[in-house]
Amino acid sequence: MGRWDRRNFGKAQDSIVTNVVERIQAAAKHLGIDGDVVPFGSHTNTLCNANSDCDVTFVPREDVWGEAALHILKLIAQELPSHGFKSIIHIFQASIPIIKAIDPGGVEVDLCIGNHLGIHNSRLVAAYCQLDRRVGEVCRLVKQWAKSEELVSISDGHLTSYAYTLLTLYFLMKSSPPLLPNLQDLAFGSGHDSVAVVDRKWGQKMTWECKFWEDVELLPKSLNVDSSEKLLRGFFRFYTEEFDWSTHAVCVRLATPKQDVSKFNLAAPATKEGWFIEDPFDLRHNLASNCIKEGRQRILARMAEALRLLEEGGLQAFHSYRSSKKSKFMLKCRIHVEKDAFDLHFPSSATRNKEVADAFIIFKSKESQRQVHELNERMIGEWQLRLMPCSTWALQDALAAGEYQHLEVAPKISTKPENVADQVRNGYRSATSIAEVKQLIELARSNDLKYEEQLGLKRLKQLESSGQAPSSALATPAKPTSEDEAESRAAYQ
Ligand code: UTP
Ligand code: MG
Repeated sequence: MGRWDRRNFGKAQDSIVTNVVERIQAAAKHLGIDGDVVPFGSHTNTLCNANSDCDVTFVPREDVWGEAALHILKLIAQELPSHGFKSIIHIFQASIPIIKAIDPGGVEVDLCIGNHLGIHNSRLVAAYCQLDRRVGEVCRLVKQWAKSEELVSISDGHLTSYAYTLLTLYFLMKSSPPLLPNLQDLAFGSGHDSVAVVDRKWGQKMTWECKFWEDVELLPKSLNVDSSEKLLRGFFRFYTEEFDWSTHAVCVRLATPKQDVSKFNLAAPATKEGWFIEDPFDLRHNLASNCIKEGRQRILARMAEALRLLEEGGLQAFHSYRSSKKSKFMLKCRIHVEKDAFDLHFPSSATRNKEVADAFIIFKSKESQRQVHELNERMIGEWQLRLMPCSTWALQDALAAGEYQHLEVAPKISTKPENVADQVRNGYRSATSIAEVKQLIELARSNDLKYEEQLGLKRLKQLESSGQAPSSALATPAKPTSEDEAESRAAYQ
């Protein structure tokens, strides 16, 4: 993890990033696509934690966007396995399409195309971190806290890591005396040259002013002498007790020690209830626009609890509480309720007055979750499978809003050879989809269980002749009977 230096920014600063950049660069070269792989995000601004991903963007030599950018991303995605990456997940249905992959060292990599704003806002965050050691310390503590509370995910109606960083920077500008100056304001005040950056995230070409005061070494040290622990307490107190979310915006761009920023005077639309966290450069982007009521209440409640822990037991109590929390590995899948698309962790009939609802799958490990997530955005018949990582909070909200059936879906396969045959046979009996049966046949094959393989092929035929496609309603079709089993055994013997 390197310190920010504006001459070095954009060059890989740790060996993890160097390896990732070199491999993706080699993939692009092999495809004959001219451009640079540029790291951004927490690996470039000193804010990475042990569980941070490695964010990189491929900047093609020629400016591309929309379908052309997506095409390049798809080509690189196909090429990545030849360069040591595995477990490729497509997330193309997003305002910034990305690919997730695991590099040979086990690091999770997020790759997108031409994210110039991401590069510039990472530079800005890096410059703030360079001003004072405590900035990075508090930002990292806040992000760790939010992750351990499962409050980092916009698909669950919470906030992104980056949004928590902006919350922290804004608080440090408002602390007394301020720990941070406003670097954007300083650049405007001193007539710096414009740094105009083009972005097309909103479906049209927008140009944003990305200048800020870069000569941080010329700025005087802050008069604030608080410890990082005291600042962290101040952070939680500020947002739970002092900040008026109903009228003000968290606005790093316009922050001053004394004056608050009205959220109703900014470029993006605002409501009284909704929170407003303005991106410092992309003024149309309110980073809290997807933060739902339950999410907001939860963030404030967990902040109040963090403050209580810090006040009663200091950082030690804060850390030991955090490390006692265990993550669950989950995906949720949006389904059309009326059409019964899947039989996963399923909304029950009471929920069917809605057009769509989320089904949830809970995995035993991060690896299994990832394996299934690799299916994201595949077409299954007329359906596109959309899978989103989520937290227990999302399931809790869904359970509060509608009834759910809890179904045990995955056949529990033991790896002990003597149990495999039994489990495959039992699996056929309870299997309700072609995919499940195929998986069991594969298992039988890989264990050289010829009889069970035959039995599975027969079961597959039954499902296919009953016209059941894996995407259709998973009503229970005829199961193999003991006569079927006897017949298959005889045929095989
Ligand atoms: P991340 O969510 O990965 O944040 O977004 P991070 O700062 O790297 O944090 P960790 O350590 O992985 O948890 C990566 C980068 O994407 C850009 C920011 O530059 C951010 O640092 N970004 C993210 C945006 O520009 N806008 C967003 O809404 C989210
Ligand atoms: Mg990141």
